[in-house]
Amino acid sequence: MQGSANLNVMIKAARRAGRSLAKDFREVENLQVSAKGAGDFVSRADIAAEAIIREELTAARPTYGWCGEESDAVAGKDPTRRWIVDPLDGTTNFLHGLPHWAISIALEHKGEIVAGVIYDPAKDELFHAEKGQGAWMNETRLRVSGRSRMIESIFATGLPFGGRADLPDTLRDMARLLPQCAGVRRWGAAALDLAYVAAGRYEGFWERGLHEWDIAAGLVILREAGGLAEPIDPEGDILRDGEIVCANGEIFDRFAKVIRGG
Ligand code: IPD
Repeated sequence: MQGSANLNVMIKAARRAGRSLAKDFREVENLQVSAKGAGDFVSRADIAAEAIIREELTAARPTYGWCGEESDAVAGKDPTRRWIVDPLDGTTNFLHGLPHWAISIALEHKGEIVAGVIYDPAKDELFHAEKGQGAWMNETRLRVSGRSRMIESIFATGLPFGGRADLPDTLRDMARLLPQCAGVRRWGAAALDLAYVAAGRYEGFWERGLHEWDIAAGLVILREAGGLAEPIDPEGDILRDGEIVCANGEIFDRFAKVIRGG
């Protein structure tokens, strides 16, 4: 498929950062046995990946604004356009040598996400979409799954770790959802969760306590693949509040009702 110039810039940046992270990931696998662990090394890898992405995007589009996980936000000369970047989503997986992490790059225009790239270097899967142009994984067009029966469906979420205040909410969600479905997965990279719903690998995903860089690129990929996404609180806002419930169109209403306590 033929992408726009902006999409090509995003893909080039994601692939370059992906090569850097893939090299560092091989090193992390060796560091697992050391007593010190790989924490500092991984923070440096994360920061280096963000610097690569920022250099590529800023060189190509110097007037756009910037929002990245590892650095301060910068307003661009063009106030209508902004990059939203997570250089390493799934940091904990990366740190533990688990090959499930990704680079996430989104372009926002006038408050709407118009393009997204999520690159998983360990599997060489590049998910991308532009508004109105469909969603793709490498050269394959993406479509959400067609499953409409809850009991045959699997869902993914993120489990609140380290004393986070939203644990009781998630446990209540689980108590309602698990008896009605075929399973719940926790993979550890929210950007890939959205991409996997877009790819029909599971039927839906929900999580609270996220940041806009975890969700932005996945949102346009999911919607272009035919998926539906809303904030868990219907009065809220997905990117501002960092919470999302999404699924294929067949099952969305029933799934969202369960997550919202119905
Ligand atoms: C994390 C992952 C994880 C989610 C966490 C996020 P990070 O992002 O997306 O799946 O459960 O809430 O913070 O920190 O690895 O970029």
